[in-house]
Amino acid sequence: MAELIPLTLQDAPALIEGVFPAQKVSFEAQTERKAGAAQTLTGLGSYWKGRKPLILVRAIVLGSLLPQTDDHEKDLEIFESLMGFDYEGLARRALIQNAIKPKDFASLIALGSPWDFFSYTIKASDISAEEVETWEFPFDADAKGITMRWRRDIDDENKLVLYRKALATFSSYEEKASLCKRPEEVDQNWLYAPVWTRVNHHYAQFGINAHSHAELVEQLGILRYGHRPRAGDTFSGGGSIPFEAARVGCNAYAADLNPIACMLTWGALNIIGAPKEQRSMYEDAQREVTQQVDKELIALGVEHDDEGNRAKAYLYCLETRCPETGWMIPMLPSRIISPKHGTVAKLIPDHANKRFDMEVINNASNKEIKDAETGTVHDGDLVYELDGRTHRTPVKTLRGDYRGPQGNTLNRLRKWEKLDFIPRDEDIFQERLYAIQWITKASIYEPRQVTCFCGVTADDLARERKVERIVAENLARWQNESLTPDMEIEPGDKTDEPIRTRGWTHWHHLFSPRQLVLLAETIRAWRNSTHPELGWIAVARMLNYNAKLCQWHTGQGGLGYPNHIFYNQAFNVFYNYAVRSSAWMKSYEIDTAISPLPKVNNIIENATANNPSLACNLWITDPPYADAVNYHEITEFFIAWLRKNVPEEFKDWTWDSRRALAIKGIGDDFRRSMIDAYRAMAENMPDDGMQCVMFTHQDTGVWSDMIGIFWAAGLQVVAAWYIATETTSELKKGGYVQGTVILMLRKRAAGDRAGFKQRILPAVRTEVKHQIETMMHLNDEVKDRMGEPVFNDSDLQMAGYAAALKVLTAYTQIGGEDVTAFAMRPRQRGEVTVVDEIVQQAAEAANSLLVPEGIAPDTWHKLNGIQRFYLRMMDMESTGASKLDNYQNFAKAFRVVDYTKVMASMTANKAQLKHVTDFVSRDLTESTELGASWLGRLIIGLQQLLAETEPQVVIGQLQAELPDFMEVRPLLIDMLSFMEKMAPEDEVRQAAEVLGARLRNLRALGQ
Ligand SMILES: C[S@@+](CC[C@H](N)C(=O)[O-])C[C@H]1O[C@@H](n2cnc3c(N)ncnc32)[C@H](O)[C@@H]1O
Repeated sequence: MAELIPLTLQDAPALIEGVFPAQKVSFEAQTERKAGAAQTLTGLGSYWKGRKPLILVRAIVLGSLLPQTDDHEKDLEIFESLMGFDYEGLARRALIQNAIKPKDFASLIALGSPWDFFSYTIKASDISAEEVETWEFPFDADAKGITMRWRRDIDDENKLVLYRKALATFSSYEEKASLCKRPEEVDQNWLYAPVWTRVNHHYAQFGINAHSHAELVEQLGILRYGHRPRAGDTFSGGGSIPFEAARVGCNAYAADLNPIACMLTWGALNIIGAPKEQRSMYEDAQREVTQQVDKELIALGVEHDDEGNRAKAYLYCLETRCPETGWMIPMLPSRIISPKHGTVAKLIPDHANKRFDMEVINNASNKEIKDAETGTVHDGDLVYELDGRTHRTPVKTLRGDYRGPQGNTLNRLRKWEKLDFIPRDEDIFQERLYAIQWITKASIYEPRQVTCFCGVTADDLARERKVERIVAENLARWQNESLTPDMEIEPGDKTDEPIRTRGWTHWHHLFSPRQLVLLAETIRAWRNSTHPELGWIAVARMLNYNAKLCQWHTGQGGLGYPNHIFYNQAFNVFYNYAVRSSAWMKSYEIDTAISPLPKVNNIIENATANNPSLACNLWITDPPYADAVNYHEITEFFIAWLRKNVPEEFKDWTWDSRRALAIKGIGDDFRRSMIDAYRAMAENMPDDGMQCVMFTHQDTGVWSDMIGIFWAAGLQVVAAWYIATETTSELKKGGYVQGTVILMLRKRAAGDRAGFKQRILPAVRTEVKHQIETMMHLNDEVKDRMGEPVFNDSDLQMAGYAAALKVLTAYTQIGGEDVTAFAMRPRQRGEVTVVDEIVQQAAEAANSLLVPEGIAPDTWHKLNGIQRFYLRMMDMESTGASKLDNYQNFAKAFRVVDYTKVMASMTANKAQLKHVTDFVSRDLTESTELGASWLGRLIIGLQQLLAETEPQVVIGQLQAELPDFMEVRPLLIDMLSFMEKMAPEDEVRQAAEVLGARLRNLRALGQ
């Protein structure tokens, strides 16, 4: 066996530069996302949005370290087995998921001796054991009248034999993988046990001899760089990238400007990734704090009633004086409290005091529940009925909105002061407790608590006043001792809302008196604990559930619960909100040592991205491009509590959001600071290092910006992949697939290279063609062997872009302009830059290679975007594909203005074009993209034929409406014969045949 010789692979292209199973990675990344709270790092704080899927990071790290050999197909196979995507990996993952039931095996596979694996019980009376003993799979166990179980003596190895067979009966990767646990959920030694012999054999020439990912990564690092590789991320955020890089065996370097991000990254590496031995120590610390807080709150006597029941949640609403009647009106968008218990709040007029009593009714009638759905605030108005009259006042009027000197909207809400923590009597908005959810005394410490909802009693109000007294007496001291924030809210994109709509000016105004007490006690307990560092993370997590921004959630017929704040990335205030008692403490505890990391070296710094203190072999980043998330503002909410007396581990960080230094937006400043950051990373990377940048796939404008940045930073594009990371339902139009571009970059070779557009464009076309043809070739080979291609059209397109950019970014000057000057130059609106042109060229070069089978290339070249889009997608649908992101990507590539106009369904995984018969006349008018095209005319013609119009009439109309009819006739014929093959409905296929034949005949008749 060859010996491992350092630097043997120093200049070897990485696997990810040639092949990458983007479809499988996409599927697995989406599965990870869908796991929601069960994702590995989410337990540290779900308030952090945008953590990159770990499986994607793993694929990037491995793909960047593994070399290409001369057998691409084998390279890919080995890579997939290292990811747990191969048949054996899938079988093991499905087994652990216990995905296939014995009776499903019986119907899925052929098996001569099923009773070697299973035992049975006879349910039907007309069969005997002797008979059953002779049966062979396949059969339908239910129909046969037996139930089946695995035999007790059958172990996992035996089960695997059948799992392998059963999985082989599913055709697509997605069908198989949807039966599986995620690779990270399975015991790694067992999952990958069969892989190492093959890996070591494939890379034997380099001396690889590994038995775990960490060993393999270390050895690859030695081969490439002479040592274990270091992977860095200067925008580390929630820490996905450094965590996964470390988990797979790299040393990790992480930096972020934001101390909360650093804390989460620290938590990923040191809490989630802690050695198993530390688990009990962390658990003890958390338990002690929970007990301590419990004891303190019991001692204060503010959460229990006289019978020993304990409050779970307090429901509050705003209350305001109606200017019309002078009555105090509770502000409630809905009066429903608990759909499950049929609990509603009822408003009972109290004429003497000009206010409403609020009664809580359980088991309300259907009518009462229906009535309660509409509360006293809707459509921005306060609306209520009194003595048979409806009163309506806009909330704007209540607030006293008016135009300020700069044209901005101001209002007459009093701005709260530093020592305020409840409204003052004269304030427009008062706060009122209207219901309490109680836990019965007997079930307080039980795993299943018994709860009920009650109205507010005089005793409850006395306890409220007691809490307020405690806060009044202690607030200044707590602020001094940093047990409560004293920080002002800085106005900003999202922070403006609480200031404007409530008059809250300091962060602690976002918390009710009960929350201030609970949080102060919790912070005190954590400070005195043996592990305050864990406490800081736990408190941040807890804050997300304990502010007045937590709405009482009554969806889906449930019991009702207090929502968390950052279900989106804003500071939404509500008219009614819920305050959790200390009974929830346990739920904020963090599951620790979930995935112990191998012994690698990890460093975390709270620094700007343009100043890494360490060189890395790989930089993998996910920069804040055009980010909708105001990380800096969200950070301020947390650091208001956490910035002082910070634990030792976090002492060196700057506990400030440093808004001015945050990279954000898309303007000239953004580009300048990004170039700075990427130049610094390029400088802190050896010549054989590699960078991977992830960004959201948007339009060519995004490409142009990003490419300009990396180009100016001295990097050259070497590959690009498209990963569909998640689906969202945010857009009104229905599903929307969030695609991530994975751009791979290397250092550009030293020295100047000047190029001119005229010379670059042909080189671009050649490179794109070469790249796509190579990939199509590999596709054919893999498809022949495995039944499924590796790349879909989006991959091919993306590779086309990458090939073009590879050519472009090798230059340092284009048409006399230096790349840095190009990237820094402010953009004019609508300007088409050289990068735009090259990206477009690449798209066109790629698209012209992606001619659907059955369309002549000549015809294809003459079709505009919408026609190409429709035909291409018809072709794709004929293979059963229905992923919305394909439609999105092709619409972009073909520059379709609004592809949704030709879509019948925009569901993420069941997208579909409108069929010929689905189009209505307004879809096909001259003012629509499709209606103005030849294809649009043909669709109208086909619809007419289906409506029994005579073919010659249809032809006559085409002749009349298309001035160049004779010229385009061959093209129409070509499209019709394509539709004749591809249209899903028989009658449309026939109509296409008839119309096509008529058009052909015209030629024959010499007309
Ligand atoms: C898109 S997020 C990264 C998310 C991360 N990949 C994850 O998986 O959670 C971008 C990060 O960049 C950070 N950031 C913004 N400006 C920065 C700067 N100038 N230097 C370093 N980090 C910065 C933000 O704090 C944020 O955490």
